[in-house]
Order: sequence, then C-alpha cells, then structure tokens
Amino acid sequence: MRSSFLIVANRLPVDRTTTADGAASWRRSPGGLVTAIAPVMQRRDGAWLGWHGAPDEELKPFEHDGMNLIPVPLSANEVELYYEGFSNATLWPLYHDVVAAPVYSRVLWDAYRAVNERFARMAADVAAEGAVVWVQDYQLQLVPAMLRKLRPDLRIGFFLHIPFPPAELFWQLPWRREILEGLLGADLVGFQRPGGASNFIRLCRRQLGLQNQRQEITVGDRTVRAEAFPISVDYGELDTLVREPQIMARAKEIRAELGDPEHVLLGVDRLDYTKGIGQRLKAFGELLADGTIREGEAVFVQIATPSRERVEEYRNLRDEIELRVGRINGQHGSLGVPPINYFHQSYDRDELAALYCAADVMVVTPLRDGMNLVAKEYVACRHDLGGALVLSEFAGAADELKNAFLVNPWDVEGLKRQMVAAMRATPHDLSRRMRSMRRRVATYDVDRWAGDFLAALES
Ligand code: ADP
Ligand code: G6P
Repeated sequence: MRSSFLIVANRLPVDRTTTADGAASWRRSPGGLVTAIAPVMQRRDGAWLGWHGAPDEELKPFEHDGMNLIPVPLSANEVELYYEGFSNATLWPLYHDVVAAPVYSRVLWDAYRAVNERFARMAADVAAEGAVVWVQDYQLQLVPAMLRKLRPDLRIGFFLHIPFPPAELFWQLPWRREILEGLLGADLVGFQRPGGASNFIRLCRRQLGLQNQRQEITVGDRTVRAEAFPISVDYGELDTLVREPQIMARAKEIRAELGDPEHVLLGVDRLDYTKGIGQRLKAFGELLADGTIREGEAVFVQIATPSRERVEEYRNLRDEIELRVGRINGQHGSLGVPPINYFHQSYDRDELAALYCAADVMVVTPLRDGMNLVAKEYVACRHDLGGALVLSEFAGAADELKNAFLVNPWDVEGLKRQMVAAMRATPHDLSRRMRSMRRRVATYDVDRWAGDFLAALES
C-alpha cells in the first residue's frame, strides 16, 4: 500500500543486531533523530523508510511499535563509504565547526550520491499521489532534488538535525553546489536555529546566484522556504514516566549505589567528539585536584553510548576518554569510591529517566550541537523542580534554556566555575530556573515542532 505521509531517514527507529547465540534481534537505534521522530510517527498514519542497521541484508517492510517500517538495504561497502565515510567522516565534522578534520574523497562522494539515489527511488515507489514526504538529516541531502525529479506531484520537506555551518566553512566542500541544489528540491528546508537558515540562504545567493525575499528563495518557477524549527522532546511522556513510583525508587537506589554523595553529576551522550566529554571530565578532575571538591563529596556518572565505532576519530576519542577516566580515578579515588563512574553502554528509557532524577547537576557541554535533546529530557524529567543544568552555549538548546548555567566548554576555568555554581546553588534559585525551563519545553515539545513544520510545509 502507498503512503500519504512518509518519513525518509538514514536510520529506522530500530536497529538489527545479532545476539551472542547468533539470533537476530531488534533494539532502539541511537541518537536524537529517532527520539524525536518516533513519537511523531506513532501518532500519525504513514511509513518510515530507512536503513535497518545491518549490512548486506534485504528485509521486507514490517510493523514495529505502531509504525510501518520500510527497510532500505545497504551493502557493507556502502556502509563504509556512504555512512561511515561521506556522512560521518566528511559532513559530520564539517557541519560541526570542523572540530575534527573532514575527509574529502571522491570515492566517498560517489557512494553518497548512489545511496541517496536509492533512497529517492524507494521513496518515489511508496509515496501516494500528492503525498507529504519528510526527508531527514545530513545523510540524505541529495534526496529532495532526486525525488522531485521522479515525483513532481509530492510535497517535500527536509529537516537538518545538525548545525548548518557558516559559509566560510561550507565553502571547503568540493561538492558544495550539488548539496545546495539537492536541498533546494524541497519545498521547505528546516534548520534547528535561525543562524542555520540564514547561512543556507546566504550560500544559495553566493554559490548559486539565487534571489531571496527574506526566508523565501526563488528557484526557477518555484519558491523554497528556509526556516528554523527547534526540535524538542516528548515532554508529556517523560513527565508522566518520572511520576511513576518505580522510577523514583530507582533514582533513590542509584544514589545509594553511588554512596549517597552530596552531589551527583551526570553526563549522557553518544561517544562523539562534538560532545565535549573530555572537557567536562578535565574540569571535574581539576576541581578534585585543587581541593574545590572534597574527597567523596561528588560523583560524576558519565554514560557514553557506543557510536560509529569503525570511524577512526571515534576510536581515538574512546581511547582518550577512557585514559582520562582511568587517570582521574587512579589519582583521586579510594577503595570502592571512584569519583567517575563511566559506562560505555546503552540504557533503556526507564533507567535513563531514573538517572536524570538522581542527578543534582546535568552536565551538557558540546563543542557544537544542533539541539541536544539530553538537555531537554533532563528538564522534562525534573517535575520536582530540583537539579541544575550546566549547558554549553554551543548547543542549539541554549537559545531556549536561558536559565541553565551556561558555559563555553573551551574555557576550563569558566566551566569549573559554573559546575561549582550549579553544585552550590540554593534550592530556591534552582527551582526558579527549572520552572522557567520546564515551561519552555512543555510548550515547545516535539508535537509542536512537527506540527509547526508540517503546517508550514502544507501551507
Ligand atoms: P545526538 O542526537 O547527537 O546523539 P541528542 O542529545 O540530541 O544527541 O540525542 C541523544 C538521544 O539519545 C537522547 O534521546 C538520549 O536520551 C539518548 N541517549 C543518549 N545516550 C544514551 C544511552 N547511553 N542509552 C540510551 N539512550 C541514550
Ligand atoms: C545524530 C544525527 C542522526 C543520527 C544520530 C545517531 O542525532 O543527527 O542523524 O542518526 O546522531 O548516529 P548514527 O550514526 O548512529 O545514526
């Protein structure tokens, strides 16, 4: 059956994995895109087209958790060149302020184009006449134009979950023209922040010589709108979840397992070099070393989901973080009381919610991040109005969560000061800050995000 609403994303919400005994199983895919799109999809009729996470495997469409999923096959070679290569070794670092050096390779680009073509063809096959097709993220930037060529009857939206870089950086990309033209196949191109939209418009003028009237770019006889739609979390679901007695009990238990320290600090991220994990651990280590934090006063829990483990920069990062954790624990820990509890693991939603409730200080310090949903999840979970959020100015979320303890993660002294300020803040100050942040996330939740985008697309 053909769908009148179609999500097209590199990943499906579930990932196919093989258990130790060789059996295939499904687990939730990592990352913020899936966190945001899954509830949107569950509340609408439609289908989600994406890769199922296993190379060299062709699967039939299936239903999962109230969603119709259409798997797109990728060969092992395509995973290496298109996914690990062009998507995550070229575009990811380039779009995140070149915090790692992007790889520019024609072989990777060819694979990116070929895989985008496959996604476009499969979308063209399953979309009903006049359907709304919503293409997601940097892995699929050529799909809007390819799809428009195949199916001019469709309404095509595109949303970029990561930052769109300033022209001066984007300019490095040997295929800058092709990417801009690919995106311009959409009727509406959405960004996390207004700065991303204006970077894009400026590039369309400078690179392609196009004219614009504020947000609207003229492309031949069509108009393409470029606008910011800050993504969010399922506030209602999290707020309800954390009121359940077993989550509160588990939060208490977590604190007890950590030795009931005065302060529990928490970091939750994919293990990614954009997240500033090293910077926050360095700051914490220095606070221990200079005696600002007394022995046993504070425990840092760092949860780092395994991510893109075959990409070199990610392997190096893991070594670097694990070395740092080992050093700090070796120097400042005592028997059974390591100051940093580090886990290279994924957790289910309940355990994550309990961790958020157990944490006095949530430390979110990306060097660059499109939005950062972890920051918003923490806020959504703190109905008790307790807890402090230390948040990087370089995360999209900083535009909205102005009552966080804002930091520049490159400034170690500033980071230390704000971590201490967050630990020592009065309950009155914390509840004032949390109340205002919760109001924002409650109003601008993920339904509002999707509703606003789709209304703009269909208008
Ligand atoms: P990104 O999309 O770059 O990974 P976000 O902060 O926007 O960053 O989104 C991360 C999502 O992944 C959040 O929904 C968060 O709850 C989830 N997540 C992060 N770490 C873990 C983990 N260890 N286990 C389970 N979920 C995680
Ligand atoms: C970020 C990206 C998503 C991606 C996710 C997880 O949220 O914006 O597109 O799916 O990270 O990364 P992965 O490479 O595992 O899909």
